Amino acid sequence: MADTIHKLSAQYFQLVDPPDLTIPPDDVLVRPEVQKALYKHMFDESLTPLPPTTYRSRILKLLLARIENGIQNPDEDEILDDLMECWGSLLSEPKPSPIEAAQQLSHVKYTAPQSESHPSDRTVTTIESRGVILGGGTTGNRTWEAALHLESFLASPAGEALVTGKRVIELGAGTGFLSLFCARHLGVRGVVATDREPALIETMKECVRLNSGPESTQAQLDQRSLIPMYPAIWDWGTPLQRTEEMGSLGRNEALKFDVALGADLIYDADLVPLLLSTVRDLFENYGVKLFIIAATLRNEATFQTFLTGCEANSFKAEYIPFQSPALEEQTGFFHSTNIPVRTYCISRN
Ligand SMILES: C[S@@+](CC[C@H](N)C(=O)[O-])C[C@H]1O[C@@H](n2cnc3c(N)ncnc32)[C@H](O)[C@@H]1O
Repeated sequence: MADTIHKLSAQYFQLVDPPDLTIPPDDVLVRPEVQKALYKHMFDESLTPLPPTTYRSRILKLLLARIENGIQNPDEDEILDDLMECWGSLLSEPKPSPIEAAQQLSHVKYTAPQSESHPSDRTVTTIESRGVILGGGTTGNRTWEAALHLESFLASPAGEALVTGKRVIELGAGTGFLSLFCARHLGVRGVVATDREPALIETMKECVRLNSGPESTQAQLDQRSLIPMYPAIWDWGTPLQRTEEMGSLGRNEALKFDVALGADLIYDADLVPLLLSTVRDLFENYGVKLFIIAATLRNEATFQTFLTGCEANSFKAEYIPFQSPALEEQTGFFHSTNIPVRTYCISRN
């Protein structure tokens, strides 16, 4: 049971949609020790950062209904006072409208899939808006399935070996989720997380402090104790500017990297030529040897444009046969597998 509550709590802090949560059966939920565990791991106010009020209310309402349903003997079974008190205080909190709630920026805590080599939880927290739809100007405001898929691979021993100790650059980083995990848990020498949207860069900087551990208040004063992630504005096709913080990647030499990362960058065929010329720039001028890219196959033709473009540029595109398990079997970085994601290692022939 502890495993199920642990998984439910990880899904809850990732703000997983209610129908996709792994909830124990009603007759199990009603047990006092299970209700206590739900309170302790999900609803205790001292847990931070808490999910937004609207989401917390939805999940607690769902759980209370299920607990009530599990009551067999009304003289003995009851709902835990702490849960009822929490419900009361959630009811009294002001609620944003559904549109405001969808656009609201929230903390989202992601837990890596369980792994024998890492018995304790590896988590990162982003700040994002879950209501974003693809095609708008703010696609980087939420973390997409391709990023969760790619990070599931990078968190595995085979993936970790590709980035540990390396100088990494991420393209179109959005919320910075991939780079945050690389900097906090995968032992990269440094990762420059780039995007063209200045607001995303500012949010990523806040996330660097947020993910730099309990000492982050001091860390704000002392750059050396922050995780080695350096958010920077980079619009493809323009020169990448070095910032003061990138010092750990070599202070005096030209900016060089070993590996580039990208997730969900091939959603529009018109973007592909610029993306490919950017990858060529990274190979030719920034020392990159490997570009690891994960693409959601929304449109086979768009993806094919990318592969054909790789060939035309004499890039070798090697398919990585990593597949995320189905959603119900995932133990972390929860994401839908309804639309397939393909991962490739791109290098120069
Ligand atoms: C679909 S989002 C993916 C975000 C993130 N990689 C993920 O998978 O969650 C695409 C990202 O690429 C960025 N982007 C698109 N075109 C770009 C360009 N020409 N230069 C830099 N960033 C770009 C967008 O701002 C956005 O953050």
